Amino acid sequence: PYPAYGFLRAADPVHESAAGFWLLSSYRDVSAVLRAGLSSNPRNVTHGAVLGQYERLGGTGAMFARTMLEHDAPDHTRLRSLVTKVFTRRAVAALETRVTELVDAALDRVADAGRADLVDALAFPLPFAVISEMLGLPPDSSDRVRELSGLLVRSQEPVFDPAVLDSVARAGDAMVALVRELIAAKRRDPGDDLLTALIAAEQDGARLTDDELVAQVVLLYIAGHETTVNLIAGGTVALLRNPGQLAALRANPGLTGNAVEELLRYDSPVQQTRRITTAPYTVRGREIPPGTFVIACVGSANRDEEFWGPDADQLRLDRPDARRHVSFGAGPHHCLGAALARLEGRVAFERLVRRFPRLEFDGDVVWNGRVNLRGPAELPVRV
Ligand code: HEM
Repeated sequence: PYPAYGFLRAADPVHESAAGFWLLSSYRDVSAVLRAGLSSNPRNVTHGAVLGQYERLGGTGAMFARTMLEHDAPDHTRLRSLVTKVFTRRAVAALETRVTELVDAALDRVADAGRADLVDALAFPLPFAVISEMLGLPPDSSDRVRELSGLLVRSQEPVFDPAVLDSVARAGDAMVALVRELIAAKRRDPGDDLLTALIAAEQDGARLTDDELVAQVVLLYIAGHETTVNLIAGGTVALLRNPGQLAALRANPGLTGNAVEELLRYDSPVQQTRRITTAPYTVRGREIPPGTFVIACVGSANRDEEFWGPDADQLRLDRPDARRHVSFGAGPHHCLGAALARLEGRVAFERLVRRFPRLEFDGDVVWNGRVNLRGPAELPVRV
């Protein structure tokens, strides 16, 4: 259970924090705010601690500001439309064979060793390889990208730790430099991949600037794996901690699709998204002023007993309405990679459960210490 979320929903569902941001924690308010047409651009914040945090991020803040994630229409629509084609359910379904190959190769290595850190062995390398292949980028930058993006995602925390601000800013600069090198290499040696298509859009001038190109690639790179890693690793932890549910899944592999939805609900890989008011926004009779940072706590909405019923804190892989979770957000910024994450999750759990009838913990799970992109950093298992 997440007792702090339960406390917030009961005591103060429209919470104004001392740091100047507001936090919505009920299912009703979270799903409404995501669809309410508020801004996604943190530059519209006019007061509160969050304002200063963004300024201190320097070039890294400027880079994030060029991503679709932090734009509103019409620029959001323009940037997103350049990449939607390869992320449709249909386009993603064509990747199933390759995803299965990657999962099976990873599980072979686990089987040979008899034990593994499942984050290192599967949960990280799978989504990283898939997004790299889609972009047409070499797999050998994985250690460097993993290190840099681990720092960069700290900028998505509700309150940054001032001690890490400088390292986050430096990681952003290093990531931009790395991506610029990868783009330069791709210009020399184009392929049939997403990055080549984006470069063509950039050469077209009207559709994408050079800085925007870099920012979208950084975003896809990070969003492509920092999230799904939590689904696969966090989902495995949830299954191992609920042996009855794991046994039910073994007995009925047809349940895996719904199980992925329930695992997404149960431990949201992304706990929060944010919006910024540009006009007064009223929730439950309380007026949030313009220029305010509003956190939509999807991790809490996904556990709201008022919506899910009294068993909201239980893992029920056959929950009939599990798919109504808000783990992928909602509205115009609804996760671009949702179909891909669902595919990777389904194949990973299907093969993992089938392959290892005696999967078990082999030590303590180490969590990554983040509030937002929360999940295991180490997941020792024995097979
Ligand atoms: C947006 C969650 C996997 C790419 C989002 C948002 C959420 C989310 C909550 C909405 C942000 C907002 O409303 O401001 C997740 C989860 C994933 C996942 C839980 C895995 C379990 C992926 C993957 C990709 C991806 C595999 C592939 C590249 C994106 C992008 C956006 C986004 C580009 C921004 C969309 C926009 O601003 O229009 N994701 N994501 N995500 N996601 Fe995902």
